[in-house]
Amino acid sequence: MEKTDSLWYKNAVFYELYVRGFYDSNGDGHGDLRGLMQKLDYLQELGVDCLWLLPIYPSPLKDDGYDIADYYSIHPDYGSLDDFRALLEAAHARGIRIIMDLVLNHTSDQHPWFQAARRRSPEQSEGGSDPASPYRDYYVWSDTDQKYRQARIIFVDTEKSNWTWDPVAGKYYWHRFYACQPDLNYDNPAVRAEIFNILRFWLDLGVDGFRADAVPYLFEREDTDCENLPETHAYLKQLRRFVDEHYPGRILLCEANQWPQDVRSYFGSGDEFHLAFHFPLMPRIFMAMQRADLTPIKWVLEQTPVIPDECQWCTFLRNHDELTLEMVTEEERQGLWQAYAPDPRMRLNLGIRRRLAPLFRDDRRKIELAYSLLFTLPGSPIIYYGDEIGMGDDLQLPDRNGVRTPMQWEDSPDAGFSTADILYAPVLNDRQYCPQRVNVAAQRADAGSLWHTLQKMIAIRKQYSALSCGNINWVDCGTSAVAVYQRACKGEQLLVINNLSAISQTVDCSLPPGITDGIRDIMTNQPANFTDGQLSLMLRPYEYRWLLLPMQKG
Ligand code: NOJ
Repeated sequence: MEKTDSLWYKNAVFYELYVRGFYDSNGDGHGDLRGLMQKLDYLQELGVDCLWLLPIYPSPLKDDGYDIADYYSIHPDYGSLDDFRALLEAAHARGIRIIMDLVLNHTSDQHPWFQAARRRSPEQSEGGSDPASPYRDYYVWSDTDQKYRQARIIFVDTEKSNWTWDPVAGKYYWHRFYACQPDLNYDNPAVRAEIFNILRFWLDLGVDGFRADAVPYLFEREDTDCENLPETHAYLKQLRRFVDEHYPGRILLCEANQWPQDVRSYFGSGDEFHLAFHFPLMPRIFMAMQRADLTPIKWVLEQTPVIPDECQWCTFLRNHDELTLEMVTEEERQGLWQAYAPDPRMRLNLGIRRRLAPLFRDDRRKIELAYSLLFTLPGSPIIYYGDEIGMGDDLQLPDRNGVRTPMQWEDSPDAGFSTADILYAPVLNDRQYCPQRVNVAAQRADAGSLWHTLQKMIAIRKQYSALSCGNINWVDCGTSAVAVYQRACKGEQLLVINNLSAISQTVDCSLPPGITDGIRDIMTNQPANFTDGQLSLMLRPYEYRWLLLPMQKG
């Protein structure tokens, strides 16, 4: 990989990938690392810069790998460490980077640390025969379930408490997620040291960084909500220092489903995370499109603090989880549920467990418009596997599994995903989204497909550095149904126009002073007409335009 561009992530297009669902190379019904290797040409052709792999560690898979049972190995379904090395090499040879999920907050209850931690010390055990476990302190234990009562429950649909009784230890243990995911005790220096070893192991292997899972919850303190504590930030800064010192150019991406003001602290002064997801923007893209009103997007970006120059937001439309509605008001949540999840089976926790295309009832205009917003608003965009072809979801499957079905490569019944009779999850079989209707091969062969539009958007996005700078200037065009903004950087200026409404709109807006030469639509390569510094356009329902303004003279 090019070593010189240490800020590569600021203008990268990320692709979130579920290895189990991508491509099965050995016919066992599960996607694997060798399978992913075979599809790297596809990803290169799509134009993405960096893959984010969902957890690939050994795990009992109670939370699809976010319950890690061994941090130093690969789940046998996915292959081996050698396969992973080969994958990294092959990806790097194509100029594609790979970051992996790293779960810092908790392990699986099957992790040997937890199993050992449960054992009683000799004084506690009746016969005095159990060895004292040095691992007891790796987790957070209590004799009551009344500590840290201000901490909210995250998986509200399944968990009643953040404490679970362990009969072997004779104590309660603390967990912010499922009860099978005990939280690690970061007050223990041994735990803090373990994480450094884990980082070193994978960075030595060549990974380009980590998507750090659930970082706000590392430490617990009484009389707080146990989120975003100063101790947590101090520790994360140490991790960052370690990465910078020994592995420059590798990145840390922060998963903190919080308000931008709170997430801001995870960037520190450029000495904590390189990137952080912008969670609250995502539901507001859906809200703005549903209401045909740009206000929610504008509002949340106004709430978004400036971040250090070398940092970047990561933006997304959908991912492997439910479309979270934690960062909206109760009234807004009800509105979004009604519009986008009318069937109760579509709802999960405080969110919506659906993919992008079904959310928009497969309306190509809306899907493209959502991508237009994603690619032109501030932040590095992430595409969720399968959403580049408009894959559907399976509401019959429990939890979030319905958005993790096999990638649809071809129109065959197994979607060209695997030769096995039984797959880890069924291929979609509904009329609208089955592989016969939605698959990669057909879309690649059709120049007018969603896939080709996405490929073009990615290429254009990477060509214009104005899209990777932080600035956005809203332009008044007389109606809030059309989101018009300018992105400018180093003399390059783009004017982006998105019709959020289901009706045609006439847009009139003033151009920056001094524009005399031609304006070009960079998606269609057509000129856009203007007179006397005024741009006047007619937009079809949900139409979007990306206009390049000429360099200003003087
Ligand atoms: C966030 C992950 O995205 C989600 O899939 C997981 O269940 C929780 N963290 C717990 O690790």
